[in-house]
Amino acid sequence: MSDFERPVLRPRRLRTTPAMRELVAETTLRPSQLVLPLFVREGASEPKPISSMPGVVQHTRDTLLKAVTEAAEAGIRGVMLFGIPEVKDPLGSGGLDPDGILNVAIRDVIAEVGDAVVVMADLCLDEFTDHGHCGVLTPDGQVDNDATLEAYAAMGVAQAEAGVHLVAPSGMMDGQVAVIRAALDSAGHTDTGILAYGAKYASAFYGPFREAVDSSLQGDRRTYQQDSRNALEGVREALLDVEQGADMVMVKPALAYLDVLRQVRDAVDVPVAAYNISGEYAMVEAAAANGWIDREPAILETLTAIRRAGADVILTYWATEAAGLLR
Ligand code: PBG
Repeated sequence: MSDFERPVLRPRRLRTTPAMRELVAETTLRPSQLVLPLFVREGASEPKPISSMPGVVQHTRDTLLKAVTEAAEAGIRGVMLFGIPEVKDPLGSGGLDPDGILNVAIRDVIAEVGDAVVVMADLCLDEFTDHGHCGVLTPDGQVDNDATLEAYAAMGVAQAEAGVHLVAPSGMMDGQVAVIRAALDSAGHTDTGILAYGAKYASAFYGPFREAVDSSLQGDRRTYQQDSRNALEGVREALLDVEQGADMVMVKPALAYLDVLRQVRDAVDVPVAAYNISGEYAMVEAAAANGWIDREPAILETLTAIRRAGADVILTYWATEAAGLLR
């Protein structure tokens, strides 16, 4: 090679040593940016593994507290609670009942860790309905938006009375954030925040979650969750949520929607969360179990990519473990 052919610009210089790479790293990933989603099952006497999510279980009330404490000790600053009731009904009554499993679990967790961790709860009916939809149904089987809003308002107030810090409406009903905000305020819970699932897409990657909450859903959620072909619509949904009083917005799923995550991050002026969902977890776990990918680097690369795309906060089933890897 003659001299003039040699490159003058050499980006590799900034990759020469670990210290150099650390120095110029653009993206940070810290335990405090992670939220651990947890499932708690009513009446359970021992934790029950979820086969499609190796390493994740339906907790008992006791083991839930252990998991929360362990997460807090690892530096995790948020947990997202999901309840699985013993009995499901068409109205999802267990979600509104102050003695329902989710509200009981919120009280337990607050009593255990107080304000050390931000306690969040799924505000949605699908874990509690026998038909598995996120809302109540009309006589001909459609999800009834406005009737569902009334249920969400009551559910939000019940969660706030139990002490939750952030309610997380995930049902994609129109107007849900405004109705929940008004209900919280009129019940005196002005400090209870709303983490709104702003852009939430109908996704095949929720598969393992159905097992996690014993869902009996027939059909799909395409009349309320978004169409995966639409990114502008995701931005619009997030903006509507902010307008209605959302304190934070979420994009979900994460990996197949990193472009939407970036667009939402650029469009709103509140913190943005992304949910690294059950199917995304299962893909990595399954490939790693087969020896096809190197598990720990794959986990960290996944979470880093979600941060790089614009997430301030990441919900991930790996939260506690990832916090350990980041130490
Ligand atoms: C609805 C809800 C779902 C998830 C979180 N909240 C399921 C759905 O919308 O179908 C999925 C989370 C995951 O897959 O990890 N309550």
